Amino acid sequence: MSDYNHHDGGSSCFRCCFSFTLTLGLTSLFMWLSLRTSNPILSIQDIYIPALNKTLNSTDYQKIYIDLKFDNTNKDKGIYYHPINITLHYYINGSTSISSSKIPISNYTIRGFYQGHNKKARRKDWVDTYGVPWEAAVDGGGLAVFRVDLTTVIRFKILAWKTKKHRLVVGTDFEVDGVGKKERKKGTRLRSGAPELGSGQFPVGLGLVVFSGLLLVFN
Ligand SMILES: *[C@@H]1O[C@H](CO)[C@@H](O)[C@H](O)[C@H]1NC(C)=O
Ligand SMILES: *[C@@H]1O[C@H](CO)[C@@H](O)[C@H](O)[C@H]1NC(C)=O
Ligand SMILES: *[C@@H]1O[C@H](CO)[C@@H](O)[C@H](O)[C@H]1NC(C)=O
Ligand SMILES: *[C@@H]1O[C@H](CO)[C@@H](O)[C@H](O)[C@H]1NC(C)=O
Ligand SMILES: *[C@@H]1O[C@H](CO)[C@@H](O)[C@H](O)[C@H]1NC(C)=O
Repeated sequence: MSDYNHHDGGSSCFRCCFSFTLTLGLTSLFMWLSLRTSNPILSIQDIYIPALNKTLNSTDYQKIYIDLKFDNTNKDKGIYYHPINITLHYYINGSTSISSSKIPISNYTIRGFYQGHNKKARRKDWVDTYGVPWEAAVDGGGLAVFRVDLTTVIRFKILAWKTKKHRLVVGTDFEVDGVGKKERKKGTRLRSGAPELGSGQFPVGLGLVVFSGLLLVFN
């Protein structure tokens, strides 16, 4: 036993070390691949604002119909949504360039829910508004411009356990025409203003393990 080790110690140690780091590296890579998560894709599918429907000729009914789609594109990870806060703004004079011309007109909350992998969900609501200058919006001459912002916290479900919390903050402008419908007929995606952190990134800890493994192998 000790004899064998005495003669061949260095080389067997090297081989052992090599396969150990290789296994560690491959395991890390595999773990990273299977732990990688993508944020859900959110979009407005439909909008109807009866007060802006010129044919109705009335701004008495002041609710907004909004149809949101939640698309979990992860192949094998579920998503837990905390309560979802939504705010709507109206751009005075239809201008999106001046931030001060944006006024809050509505806010509401969608109850949190769980969404399985590869699943889509719709949330359709009639929401109350306040402070919209309806006459100006109807007679504005062009399209009325609004903004929707959505804030929530999500956690991913991987096999039997939950990841840590991720803040999800997305939004988009949308335009409404003379019959009160969203100008773009296709879905309008809500996007994040800031670069998305903590999602799909190579974990620093695993990176260090792989890096030091490589150093050992090539030394
Ligand atoms: C606008 O109002 C008219 C009159 O009530 C109605 O026929 C029409 O369907 C409305 N437009 C939309 C997009 O609902
Ligand atoms: C719209 O309603 C106002 C009063 O509510 C009326 O004076 C006007 O004629 C109506 N316009 C049309 C096109 O029906
Ligand atoms: C914007 O609209 C307000 C009233 O809503 C008006 O007083 C102002 O002149 C408008 N500004 C521009 C640049 O059109
Ligand atoms: C939410 O809406 C209510 C009125 O419905 C308003 O008083 C409140 O200030 C709004 N909150 C935010 C954060 O906009
Ligand atoms: C949603 O709004 C509630 C009440 O204003 C607040 O307590 C909560 O932190 C908000 N959620 C997020 C994700 O900002």
